[in-house]
Amino acid sequence: MVAHAVTLRLARADDVQALAAMSRDLIEAGLGWRYSPQRMHRLMADRDTVVLVACDTAAVQGFAVMQFGDQRAHLVLLCVQPGLRRAGVGRRLLHWLLQSADVAGIESVHLELRADNDAALAFYRRMAFTETGQVPGYYGGQIAARRMVRRLRQAASSP
Ligand SMILES: CC(C)(COP(=O)(O)OP(=O)(O)OC[C@H]1O[C@@H](n2cnc3c(N)ncnc32)[C@H](O)[C@@H]1OP(=O)(O)O)[C@@H](O)C(=O)NCCC(=O)NCCS
Repeated sequence: MVAHAVTLRLARADDVQALAAMSRDLIEAGLGWRYSPQRMHRLMADRDTVVLVACDTAAVQGFAVMQFGDQRAHLVLLCVQPGLRRAGVGRRLLHWLLQSADVAGIESVHLELRADNDAALAFYRRMAFTETGQVPGYYGGQIAARRMVRRLRQAASSP
């Protein structure tokens, strides 16, 4: 499968099981399962949350979840199936969301990732995110998180 055969679309109700399973197996491995099908359903129903999927004719190959506030957005989840990594799918998912955030007037996009996730760290650095610090025990009281941010525009100055 080549990346150009993958298209992006908003998630549908019948994607829920696949997205929850990908989160459990590809993102939350070793952390316990927080993004259950029920929680995925709630995210998809939330008007301030975008759930974007990358799929080919056979299956969902990747997805991303971003929550939009007034000035900040939070990238909650992002993953690509192992067989399709380093083919630009993660970049396409994130670009779509960053462009949406930009159009929405968002000032900055924030995320956390496991401090031991070197691949994701390299990816986010490549996507112009910068580290803002670490949070010990962020995941289950055991694994530290790195916090990262990508600024889209200057914060509005107070009057
Ligand atoms: C992080 C992740 C989403 C990246 O998705 P991807 O589709 O493989 O990334 P892309 O192909 O779009 O990579 C874009 C650029 O990021 C960098 N990059 C991506 N993966 C990398 C890796 N493993 N090592 C070093 N650099 C990497 C590269 O510069 C790459 O460009 P290049 O391939 O032309 O060199 C994917 O590795 C993944 O799903 N990981 C498991 C889940 C996860 O950790 N999610 C993030 C935390 S929630």
